[in-house]
Amino acid sequence: MNVLILGSGGREHALSWKIAQSPILDNIYIAPGNAGTQDIGQNIPLDILDFDAIADFSINEQIDIIIVGPEAPLVAGIFDYFQDREDTKHIKVIGPSLEGSKLEGSKSYGKVFMMENDIPTAAYGEFTSQTLDGGIAHLRAHKAPYVLKADGLAAGKGVLILDSIEEAEQELKEMLSGKFGDASSTVVIEEFLDGIEFSVFVLTDGTRYKVLPVAKDYKRIGEGDTGLNTGGMGAVSPVPFVDDAMMKKVEERIIKPTISGLQKRDIAYTGFVFIGLISVEGEPKVIEYNCRMGDPETEVVMPRIDSDFLPIIAALGTDEFDDLPLDHDPRSCAAVMLVSGGYPEAYEKGKSITAIEKVEDSIVFHAGTKQVGEEIVTNGGRVIAVSSYGDDTTEAVAISMKNAAIITFDKKNYRKDIGFDL
Ligand code: AMP
Ligand code: GLY
Repeated sequence: MNVLILGSGGREHALSWKIAQSPILDNIYIAPGNAGTQDIGQNIPLDILDFDAIADFSINEQIDIIIVGPEAPLVAGIFDYFQDREDTKHIKVIGPSLEGSKLEGSKSYGKVFMMENDIPTAAYGEFTSQTLDGGIAHLRAHKAPYVLKADGLAAGKGVLILDSIEEAEQELKEMLSGKFGDASSTVVIEEFLDGIEFSVFVLTDGTRYKVLPVAKDYKRIGEGDTGLNTGGMGAVSPVPFVDDAMMKKVEERIIKPTISGLQKRDIAYTGFVFIGLISVEGEPKVIEYNCRMGDPETEVVMPRIDSDFLPIIAALGTDEFDDLPLDHDPRSCAAVMLVSGGYPEAYEKGKSITAIEKVEDSIVFHAGTKQVGEEIVTNGGRVIAVSSYGDDTTEAVAISMKNAAIITFDKKNYRKDIGFDL
C-alpha cells in the first residue's frame, strides 16, 4: 500500500512513524515533511494547498491513501476535490468533506450542530455587525469572564477570554469590524466553563468509529499555564482524571450523538474528529471540534496505539473496520516540545540543532526542522517533540525532560512542568 501524508509538523512525523511500522506498507511519502520524516519515507516538495499537483503526484505514484495532517487543505476542500475527479476518486482521503470540516472551520456551525444533537457545550449567542447592539446586551446580561470567539479560522488567535465588561464590549466591536478579517465577521459569545481540559480523538467513516487514546495538551507558553497561547507545548496520554466512567459519559453523550449528527446531515466524514473537552465538576462538555489530529497530542497518541494502524485506516468505509481491534498501550506517554526562543511571538530560524543522536529512551519527533547540507537546523516555532514512555505520567515526563535538556540549539525553550497538574 502507498501512503501520502500531508504536512510538516510533529504530528505528521508521528503519523508517518506509526504508519511506517505496518507490514502492509510499500511506500510512504510526506509532503513537504521535515528533517525527521526524511528518515521514514520520502519528502516531496508539494504545496499542501495545490490540489492539482497533489493529484498528479498521487496518480503517478499510485497512492492508495492520503492522510491530511493540518486543517487548511480540509477546509479548502481536498476531500471533495479528490471525490469529484474520475481519476482520483479511488484514492482514500483521510479527512472530512468540506461540509464536515466546518465543524472546525466555523464555530457557529459547530455550535448549531451541538445544539441540534443535544451535545453538552457552553451556552452561547452569535452576533454580526448588524446585531452588535444585541451582542452588547448579551454581554451585559452575563457575568465575567467573557468568552469571545471569531467564527472562522484565525490562526489560533481568535478566542479571547476577558475579565472586564468594558474590554469585552471593545473587543466585540473590534472583532466585528474586521480585527481577524472575515473570520470575525460573526462572533460567538460563550458562557465561561470552569474546569480541566482534555482531548478525545475519534477515527470514523461517518458510521463506524474507534476511540483513540485520550490526551491532554499544554497550550500556554509559560509554566503554571501562564502567558500566551501556543500550538501546544507538550502533551500526556492517558490522562489520570479521565477514568472509564468519564470516557463512558464522553462516548454516550458526545461521540455517539456526533456520529449520528453527521448521518442526519448526510455529511461525508472519513477521518479524525478531535473533540476538545472540559470536565466541569466531573461532567464533560465540548469546547470545540477539530477535523484533524492534534499537535502535539499525536506525538503521545500514536506511540500508545498498540495495533497495526494502517489496516484500520484502510478498512474505513467497510465492515472489516469493526473487526480490527485498536489496542491501547497500557504505558503512559509524555511529549515535551522544544521551541524557538520568542515563540509564539517573533523568533529566529536556521539555528543548528545538535546532540539528537545522544537521546536514549525517547522518540524524537521533528516539527520545525530542516536539513541544510550536513546540518539539521530550526525551521519553525515548535522545533522538536521529545516523547517517552513510562509506567505512569511522572516517569514518562521525567524521561522526556532528561532528553529535552540534552538536545541543543540557540535560544531553546521548553516548559519544565508538563503533567504538573495531574
Ligand atoms: P477553542 O479555540 O474554542 O478551543 O478555544 C481556545 C481555548 O480557549 C480553549 O482551549 C480553552 O482553554 C479556552 N476556552 C474556549 N472556550 C471556553 C469556554 N467556553 N470556557 C472556558 N474556556 C474556554
Ligand atoms: N494542540 C491543539 C491543536 O492541535 O489544536
